[in-house]
Amino acid sequence: MADARTEYYLDSENIRPETMERIKTKEQADAFIDSQVEALRRQIGDGKVLLALSGGVDSSVVAALLIKAVGKQLTCIHVNHGLMRKGESQMVIDVFEKQLGANLIYIDATDRFLDLLAGVTDPEQKRKIIGGEFIKVFDEEAAKISGIGFLGQGTIYPDILESKDGIKAHHNVGGLPEEVKMELVEPVKLLFKDEVRVVGSALGLPDEMVNRQPFPGPGLGVRCPGAITRDRLEAVRESDAILREEFDKAGLAGKVWQYFTVVPDFKATGVKDGKRAFEWSCIIRAVNTTDAMTATIERIDWELLEKISYRITHEVPGINRCLYDVTAKPTGTIEFE
Ligand code: XMP
Repeated sequence: MADARTEYYLDSENIRPETMERIKTKEQADAFIDSQVEALRRQIGDGKVLLALSGGVDSSVVAALLIKAVGKQLTCIHVNHGLMRKGESQMVIDVFEKQLGANLIYIDATDRFLDLLAGVTDPEQKRKIIGGEFIKVFDEEAAKISGIGFLGQGTIYPDILESKDGIKAHHNVGGLPEEVKMELVEPVKLLFKDEVRVVGSALGLPDEMVNRQPFPGPGLGVRCPGAITRDRLEAVRESDAILREEFDKAGLAGKVWQYFTVVPDFKATGVKDGKRAFEWSCIIRAVNTTDAMTATIERIDWELLEKISYRITHEVPGINRCLYDVTAKPTGTIEFE
């Protein structure tokens, strides 16, 4: 039954009614899910929907809602640009294809991206290449599917507010060929991030996915400063996995806003197995912020830092030193590029 609150959710306007309750509990999330499933079925009918599924919380929640509402009428495309964190693409496959039975097209485009990025050192140029190629790969796959009438998007309320204020243009994840006219499906567009997470949990998505720390679109590409090479990228991925594992064990995951490793294109002398080792240094960064405009560093426990440093220098090929970044934003940005 559609009650007064449900009507708000069915509203197609991009304005969140003042009376709309903040979703905090499982009960509120379930009510939201029920109303959205009904609204999605009404909007989509027997049409087909396409969704770019990155594995981020917003697109994951949209995928889970669409699967509940229209099942196999949804096709998800996951483009692995080769700059994902360790295990991330596999998780998308496990959760959406294996557990939720989604129609998932998985594209491993690693070689395409890394070949294009070879020798490119300028950060903005790297971002442009990654963004542009992502759209190309997505469009190519979309063009292979016929009769798609709808495009799902993980737009959330801050995106709408920011584009209204002219802070940033609201971007479509996978800009589609001009001739393809699709209607947008944006079931979480009136929600704030914390509400999207509550809805994600209520939909049964794993905690790791729902409480994921922010991760930039260009992925590990911006954490491999300078020209990306496959071996250094692998060192970033492995060191990041160790950092995440240790933060998890220490109970810091979900408490520290963002944490990651960076491996610049710079080598220093060290000793490994009694021999001179001329290898990269790994920078560990952990910051706290509310809006990402300014940030302070996490005052990480010294013993934990030593443990992480020991593991990275002993388990990750090519790294012989670890450094901790003690720079706030400003003057540093959160990312290195
Ligand atoms: P900075 O480095 O500017 O980062 O202090 C602020 C927040 O934005 C994220 N970030 C990005 N996100 N595409 C994204 O989707 C990007 O190109 C990008 N660059 C930075 C960063 O991870 C941090 O959370």
